[in-house]
Amino acid sequence: MTSLHNPKIQREIRQIFLDFYAARGHQVLPSASLVPEDPTVLLTIAGMLPFKPIFLGQRQAEFPRATTSQKCIRTNDIENVGRTARHHTFFEMLGNFSFGDYFKEKAIAWAWELSTEVYQLPPERLVVSVFEEDDEAFAIWRDQIGIPPRRIIRMGAKDNFWESGPTGPCGPCSEIYYDFHPEQGDDHIDLEDDSRFIEFYNLVFMQYNQDAEGKLTPLKAKNIDTGMGLERMAQILQQVPNNYETDLIFPIIKTAAQLAGITYAEADEKTKVSLKVIGDHVRAVVHMIADEIHASNVGRGYILRRLIRRVVRHGRLIGIEGEFIAQVAETAIALAEPVYPHVRQRADQIKAELEREEYRFQKTLERGVKLLEKVIERAQQEKTNLISGHDAFVLYDTYGFPLELTQEIAEEQGLTVDAKGFAAEGPDQMDEL
Ligand code: ALA
Repeated sequence: MTSLHNPKIQREIRQIFLDFYAARGHQVLPSASLVPEDPTVLLTIAGMLPFKPIFLGQRQAEFPRATTSQKCIRTNDIENVGRTARHHTFFEMLGNFSFGDYFKEKAIAWAWELSTEVYQLPPERLVVSVFEEDDEAFAIWRDQIGIPPRRIIRMGAKDNFWESGPTGPCGPCSEIYYDFHPEQGDDHIDLEDDSRFIEFYNLVFMQYNQDAEGKLTPLKAKNIDTGMGLERMAQILQQVPNNYETDLIFPIIKTAAQLAGITYAEADEKTKVSLKVIGDHVRAVVHMIADEIHASNVGRGYILRRLIRRVVRHGRLIGIEGEFIAQVAETAIALAEPVYPHVRQRADQIKAELEREEYRFQKTLERGVKLLEKVIERAQQEKTNLISGHDAFVLYDTYGFPLELTQEIAEEQGLTVDAKGFAAEGPDQMDEL
């Protein structure tokens, strides 16, 4: 394929995007912090977030057009991380924005030009979606871009009406998908089939404000908010089976595998999931601490703590013994450094915070193991092979000991845990590590 398909591509993908839009009158702005100014969200979840006050007409735009590569974190799908080809906590969103300047026609034409002429994706491998009521976007794709109508898929609000939260700026959107299997033909296109398609570019026609009752009021100006997933574009250009095997993340996975004395290629599926979780989460925690978030029991601090604990836990699952997180973080820091120099500048603080948390969690685990041994002893004396949901829950709730770990250790002794009983003790708290 093209010269873009080489392992050093990640910096180029960002730069190509920003240069393309800079040449079309967009001001290139740096990524904002992961800690948003917007008090309604804990973390920056999309490229548009720093511009929300502009879209809402609360702040004057300094430039009519802007472009960014924005660090983002989303944890709503955390259980999918490592299990699908494309879920992340931390990711980078490349975006071009119009604040009451250009609208649908230009946004669509440029997105197509960038995708097909600059990134050189073959047009016959691209499929687009539009909001089911958006005849205008459908017509632009068909008449001005020349996409065959059967490759323009109308979708409902769930997929093609984008909102940044329950309230705030929103609008219909149009997405571009890459087709990994065009040989399957155009007759039964199912864009939800992620073994075939990956959505990589979302164009939001930001034109409404949604209030708490769900009522839409037109914004004063019509805006454009877009997002191209850097990791997804890397997966497409590097022709790897998932985002984790791109050069953005794979070096972290390799470091973790090395510490475990295994190789990714030979690992079984469960181990691969753990390695992917580590690869994803280590990037997230490195960037969070670099942006001055500290582990705690509330808010963003709790998200950070939970992610660190998941890394430690998955490290243990793949057989890493002793402390390791700072070593894996070093690979993530080295990867981030060329684009985010502040990450290297804060490397010592990042590693110190990670080591502190890792140590605390190790202590929690050690204490939990001792208590669990007593529970197992009692069960054996009582000649039962069941650990009650209550006992497992006390370990979890009072001592922070993960259910998964109770199950694993119990199984080693031929016992099982009453998981239903556990859930009945505190269904809202089944926050699997
Ligand atoms: N704001 C849009 C998204 O996050 C582009 O997908």
